[in-house]
Amino acid sequence: MVDPNELSQRAVAAVRTATSTAEIRALELEFFGKNGTFTTALATIGSLPPEQRKGFGQAVNEGKRAVQEAIDARSAELLSVERSSKFEIERIDVTMPGRPVAAGVPHVLQQTIDKIKAVFIGLGFQYVETPDLEFFRYNFDALNYPEDHPAMDDQDTFYIDDERLLRTQSTAFQGRVFETTSPPFRAFTVGRCYRNEAVDRTHSHTFHQVDCFMVDEGISMANLKAVLGLFARAMFGEDVKVRFRPDFFPFVEPGVDYAISTPKLFGGRWVELGGAGLVHPNILESYGIDTERFSGFAFGLGIERIPMMAYGVDDLRHFLENDARFLSQFPG
Ligand code: FA5
Repeated sequence: MVDPNELSQRAVAAVRTATSTAEIRALELEFFGKNGTFTTALATIGSLPPEQRKGFGQAVNEGKRAVQEAIDARSAELLSVERSSKFEIERIDVTMPGRPVAAGVPHVLQQTIDKIKAVFIGLGFQYVETPDLEFFRYNFDALNYPEDHPAMDDQDTFYIDDERLLRTQSTAFQGRVFETTSPPFRAFTVGRCYRNEAVDRTHSHTFHQVDCFMVDEGISMANLKAVLGLFARAMFGEDVKVRFRPDFFPFVEPGVDYAISTPKLFGGRWVELGGAGLVHPNILESYGIDTERFSGFAFGLGIERIPMMAYGVDDLRHFLENDARFLSQFPG
């Protein structure tokens, strides 16, 4: 038979000399676990003579209490020691310099688009969001293309079905505006266009355009030239020159091409940015607009040409390839 006093004295001594909370947990198991010393001691109670059972049981339980108290006291001491050493080990030096985080910047085309938008919004044009997947009728019919006109062949594209295609020109947004707005208005859109054509340094199957048009009383080529002149100066600086030469587009009359030249770039060589003109009266009439009273101008420009000019990029395919070595040269 075990002596409960001796058992508890030994246990208390072991607890007091324990050096970690893990050791305390192991001792707790050793004393009070399923096969622990106190548990087995209590289990022997049935084999004792009846008159000894009460005294033995009390002595074991008192011993258990004493041991439990010792465990609680020692655990608290050890926990505080362990916490402070953990804090010491994990101490953070808040004065240390931070690790630099590589911050992203908008793609160079997006930077250009943001600048273009700011210019036209500043000139009172309303921005219109428009879809890449467009109806044939907006891309061609509504723009005064006679049926089977060869000008459509210049803009072959990717057809989704008989009615829908990937738009070849952002000018397709005109019909959407005419259907929902009455003059006077000024509107513009920016977006991707697609053409099925041989890809080279200045032509891609996917590119971006900005299209702008304005319908009001007394609009003439003078207004068009003023807006495109302001635009060129905002994008390329005060010493830029602009040039308009006659050109044909079914949706304008007269039609012109629009080019710019600046002494800073390409030795002042002319670079064509897009097409422009006065909105064709057939289009205005098809939307019930009185052409005696209202007239309008419209223009559409290729966007890739602008950063190509501004930064001397010689191949527009770089803009689509997403090579970080190229893009990181335009931190914005
Ligand atoms: C047009 O797309 C007409 N919608 C422009 C217009 C609008 C004229 C309103 C009159 C009134 P064009 O096909 O020339 O026109 O294209 C205009 C510009 O888009 C070009 O000068 C060029 O800068 C750009 N562009 C055209 N095709 C491509 C291409 N495959 N890759 C890159 N840029 C292109």
